[in-house]
Amino acid sequence: MSAISLDIEPTTLDIIRTESIGKRFGSLEVLDNISLGVRQGEILALLGASGCGKSTLLNILSGLLAPDRGEVLIQGKPAGQFSHWERVAYLFQEDRLLPWRNVQQNVNFGLENSKLSHSSRRGRVEDALRLVGLHDFRHAWPHQLSGGMRSRVALARSLVVEPEILLMDEPFSKLDPQTRSVMHDELLRIQRLKGVTVVMVTHDVEEAVVLADRVVLLKPNPGRIHRIIDIALPRPRIPTEPSVAERSRLLRLEV
Ligand SMILES: Nc1ncnc2c1ncn2[C@@H]1O[C@H](COP(=O)(O)OP(=O)(O)OP(=O)(O)O)[C@@H](O)[C@H]1O
Ligand SMILES: [Mg+2]
Repeated sequence: MSAISLDIEPTTLDIIRTESIGKRFGSLEVLDNISLGVRQGEILALLGASGCGKSTLLNILSGLLAPDRGEVLIQGKPAGQFSHWERVAYLFQEDRLLPWRNVQQNVNFGLENSKLSHSSRRGRVEDALRLVGLHDFRHAWPHQLSGGMRSRVALARSLVVEPEILLMDEPFSKLDPQTRSVMHDELLRIQRLKGVTVVMVTHDVEEAVVLADRVVLLKPNPGRIHRIIDIALPRPRIPTEPSVAERSRLLRLEV
């Protein structure tokens, strides 16, 4: 039985906490001693070189993968006991749209296992499509959509469950810079509106600086937390603005 903590440490605000997580694949040690708190309502970016374990860590946070050592606490409870997994959404790197379903049906897929009534589901799907600006395209098929629109459908499918926690693995990495920047604005707008906590993996230093409240810099072999950096810059953060560009430059030196 876990005790309720009444201390007023900053960690009491953490919606997710990992405690000394370690993970191996065979003889390969991928993650070592990852202790990390994610604050309620923040955007946390996981940044690091390819292979340093970012996706593995996100998979562990999502519950898809079990750590070998340590544990994940969600709202203070061991993740295995957490009974609200529908409030955690995972947006994968590829959009994973089902080509034989139209936009509306793809978004509804996020609710397939929910106990909501048919009409509540319909309402949720409509709200999510409006939120990402795709309501007029609800009957379109995935092959008729641009890359940015596909990303929006995938985002709507995550939002339709009204998640408290949104996990994203390089969701915009395949988009052209202009569309990516539009999606950044969309994400920030929706995140502010809904107060959702976001943990996102990125390779892209500029993306981390533009979006994140804090950046967790991971170093490889095995993946460890090197540094956690507060990006205390006012929003909107325009990449070409000197303060933003300078922050990106300094961070790039560390990655
Ligand atoms: N299921 C698995 N089985 C065996 N090895 C794995 C598995 N998943 C990941 N790995 C290995 O673990 C290491 C970390 O992989 P991971 O995908 O977490 O890295 P990443 O930081 O997300 O990299 P990238 O930026 O390229 O996406 C890599 O060496 C990878 O080959
Ligand atoms: Mg990855």
